[in-house]
Amino acid sequence: MKISVIGTGYLGATHAAGMAELGFDVVGVDVDPTKIERLSRGELPFHEPGLPEIIRKHVDSGRLRFTTDYAEVGAWADVHFVGVGTPQMPGQHAADMKYVDAAVLSLAEHITRDALVVGKSTVPVGTARRLQGLLREKARDGVDISLAWNPEFLREGFAVKDTLEPDRLVFGVNSPDAEPTLRAVYAKILATGTPLIVTDFETAELVKVAANAFLATKISFINAFSEVTEAVGGDIRTLADAIGHDTRIGRRFLNAGIGFGGGCLPKDIRALQARVSELGLDRSMRFLSEVDEINLRRRERAVYLASSMLGGEVADLRICVLGVAFKPESDDVRDSPALDVAARLYEMGAAVNVYDPEANANAARRFPRLNYVGSLTEAAADADLVLLLTEWDEFKALTPEDLAPLVAHRRLIDARNVVDGDRFRDAGWDFAALGQRYP
Ligand code: UDX
Repeated sequence: MKISVIGTGYLGATHAAGMAELGFDVVGVDVDPTKIERLSRGELPFHEPGLPEIIRKHVDSGRLRFTTDYAEVGAWADVHFVGVGTPQMPGQHAADMKYVDAAVLSLAEHITRDALVVGKSTVPVGTARRLQGLLREKARDGVDISLAWNPEFLREGFAVKDTLEPDRLVFGVNSPDAEPTLRAVYAKILATGTPLIVTDFETAELVKVAANAFLATKISFINAFSEVTEAVGGDIRTLADAIGHDTRIGRRFLNAGIGFGGGCLPKDIRALQARVSELGLDRSMRFLSEVDEINLRRRERAVYLASSMLGGEVADLRICVLGVAFKPESDDVRDSPALDVAARLYEMGAAVNVYDPEANANAARRFPRLNYVGSLTEAAADADLVLLLTEWDEFKALTPEDLAPLVAHRRLIDARNVVDGDRFRDAGWDFAALGQRYP
């Protein structure tokens, strides 16, 4: 079986590499020739542990290649995965479907032999049914193109593992040959006992957004309790541990802090609200606007704490920001709470030094006016305040002894609840953490 993967961004590049790792001949397709050139040399345009090695291995073996040529791919592959982006539309909550639609239309135009098109992108419910109609209408005469929906649940930083050892596989199907073809594609993964859910288009589309909405809600839930513990005292980490022991709740995704960001959770909960609103069902997902608001209030709290610690005025003071990626093990700053907080403090007049092990370059493209430096030592030099905003291991291990010789004033805000606050307080630091009362 020959496989094409349309889109070579985060999802597409990982999926193409994963399919090659499963033993298929794979071609990755993109409209951007620069991306294709770089990937053909085994270079990735983003940071993802383990992925460059797999791409290089299969590019070298000839099992994986990249192209911009839809015509060639349409005549070659048996299965075409569509993994292009569905970003939030500027100024709106809805997802922008132009890349998915363009990819599917190009496939319809260029597929010259019977094939299965498999959507992987996160889309508004109803998209698969619409695209199936489009494919039927635009396919060449005598060519049979089926469609299936197979959502992707990969996390940045764990993309390879999540692709090759997923928690579950979901196939949304609406034609007789789609399921057997997908079973053959994923045979090696299914053989390891991975749960498989075979369902209709709508359920498959909704599984993905429901999972992300649940995860976002879990984070905002614990962050809402942070607002309470900040007011009355108590420890948010112990609270999370204690409720997390209840196996019905579970401890994962209960880490309080400056909230969620990235290319998925924020846009997906907004797109879901926009979609249900189109369907006249606003009320069913109204709680997600609260989830979003709680999440955004965490950033305000971090800024407020910084300004309170500095006596109400941050102008001309030196703030050291540790971490601007939306989470550790990633160089992604899309909707990053950390970068947002750093940028707001700059707008308030602070001199902001930023160090992130991987995300400096991406952050500098998005917000160039901060002072990006190459090490923690440089970032903390003469700082009036240190702000830990992304919990890289390097920062989690920080002690008062590491920082004290560098800074001008012993002030630390732990916006991710990862360091031992008592140790800093005992060493004479002015210390605050999100989710803890600050005197
Ligand atoms: C997410 C989903 O996990 C994944 O299944 C989906 O396919 C894409 O979206 P990702 O965006 O890579 O993956 O990151 P994730 O690990 O889910 O973290 C999202 C955000 O939540 C990060 O900003 C992270 O810092 C934050 N988070 C996570 C918390 O604030 N607290 C937690 O307990 C967990």
